[in-house]
Amino acid sequence: MKNRGGCVCKRNNCLRILVSFSIFLLLCSLFDHANFSSPPFPRLEKNKISNNSYQMVQENSKQDDIDLGGKGSDEDNVVLPPLDCVIFTGEWVIDDFARPFYKEEECEFLDESMTCNENGREDTMYQNWRWQPRDCSLPKFRAKLLLEKLRGKRLMFVGDSLNHQQWLSLICLVQSSIPPSKKILTSYSSSLTVFKAEEYNATIEFYWAPFLVDSNSDALDRRSGQVDPIIATETISKHGHNWKNVDYLIFDTYTSWMKFTYMKVYRSDLRMEYDEIELPVAYERALKTWAKWVDENVDPQKAHVFFSSMSPAHVRSSDWGNPDGVKCAMETTPILNSSKPVNVGTNRQLFGIAVNITGSMKVSVDFLNITTLSEYRKDAHISVYNSFHVKLLPREQKLIRDADCLHWCLPGLPDTWNELLYTRIISQS
Ligand SMILES: *[C@@H]1O[C@H](CO)[C@@H](O)[C@H](O)[C@H]1NC(C)=O
Ligand SMILES: *[C@@H]1O[C@H](CO)[C@@H](O)[C@H](O)[C@H]1NC(C)=O
Ligand SMILES: *[C@@H]1O[C@H](CO)[C@@H](O)[C@H](O)[C@H]1NC(C)=O
Ligand SMILES: *[C@@H]1O[C@H](CO)[C@@H](O)[C@H](O)[C@H]1NC(C)=O
Ligand SMILES: *[C@@H]1O[C@H](CO)[C@@H](O)[C@H](O)[C@H]1NC(C)=O
Repeated sequence: MKNRGGCVCKRNNCLRILVSFSIFLLLCSLFDHANFSSPPFPRLEKNKISNNSYQMVQENSKQDDIDLGGKGSDEDNVVLPPLDCVIFTGEWVIDDFARPFYKEEECEFLDESMTCNENGREDTMYQNWRWQPRDCSLPKFRAKLLLEKLRGKRLMFVGDSLNHQQWLSLICLVQSSIPPSKKILTSYSSSLTVFKAEEYNATIEFYWAPFLVDSNSDALDRRSGQVDPIIATETISKHGHNWKNVDYLIFDTYTSWMKFTYMKVYRSDLRMEYDEIELPVAYERALKTWAKWVDENVDPQKAHVFFSSMSPAHVRSSDWGNPDGVKCAMETTPILNSSKPVNVGTNRQLFGIAVNITGSMKVSVDFLNITTLSEYRKDAHISVYNSFHVKLLPREQKLIRDADCLHWCLPGLPDTWNELLYTRIISQS
């Protein structure tokens, strides 16, 4: 049941959501420069707010796998994997029964730039894969259990457009178990957007800092993406100020770096001159600044810090032995032959830098090693199925030029990242 084109929420809600959407549009324009070739997030032309009181009833009557917390859902049923099980090593298996966790139209917070089916994608198998760790199983996803864990707490994703997608995915995973009037999305600044579950006094927040450290393209009026960013590798406190007193911090930074070989880096805080520095050197300097900030500002007794490893792109179909393919377009199955290592061009040097730095901090950082499992998922990208492309060009031309093989359809892969994050969060006492 969709209600596109009409706004059926209360006036205040509408205003709030519209404000966040306009902020979102600004974010979108910055995301553009991060992509190889195409703007992943289009302009929103219509208001996509749906009648969620109706959805609630629908979902309650048909969803099994996401536990909505009704009668008979006692938390004792959740079987946690052993702490020493490496949940990031495993394989993709088909699960038509319990996947996807939600449908595109059931999550009113989804943006139409990533609802691939609505934008014309006809295959849906990409939504039905479940990550199966080799040595244990992931606990069933229970939205209410997670929300209980977050009661009176703040969880914040900090980083680039991939973390933004994971944030939206997490909202979609929990929102159906919150009554319509008890959830709200608010933008506090151009960088910070907050989803609040009022009954739990819990927030799920997103803070835009694509390089973690400051850059000249963080600000609203510099988000056109037309010029290369210049970063301040030693400066982070302006952003960091907003991360204080958050209980769960999930950082990532990769997408905005990956198209460069040399980075423009300010020579001093005066920001008059810059040097061009080799990518790994600049990345390491920025991450060291971030690590120092975390060590000095996060109380490990109170807060948990996560770092998501890089989300891979799939731009050369020869990487997976399909010389006739066009980037990730038309791929409908994951890479399933795991007997040979996958190489889709992810920058392993940056990966190694992130592993080393996160592993040598005073505050212990939980490294979410999502890179390899995501590298198998050549089928899960937005490709040509964002509304921007649907409106602009006939399908064939789009295929060649502009497939987005960097971001992911939702529902989809970022839901799995959140299952892994959820596993970590509920495993910690
Ligand atoms: C939502 O949809 C239901 C069923 O169509 C309707 O009865 C209800 O009045 C709607 N609620 C709002 C706030 O429009
Ligand atoms: C990340 O996971 C992959 C796949 O299991 C594994 O090969 C790699 O060693 C892991 N890296 C780290 C740093 O944990
Ligand atoms: C709600 O949570 C915030 C932290 O996110 C806390 O500071 C505040 O005291 C809480 N309010 C209530 C009424 O529990
Ligand atoms: C998987 O890859 C290995 C190593 O390249 C190859 O020998 C094997 O035939 C492949 N299996 C399938 C089913 O394609
Ligand atoms: C990470 O640390 C190991 C051990 O100190 C070192 O051998 C390796 O070169 C480092 N990797 C990177 C990318 O800095």
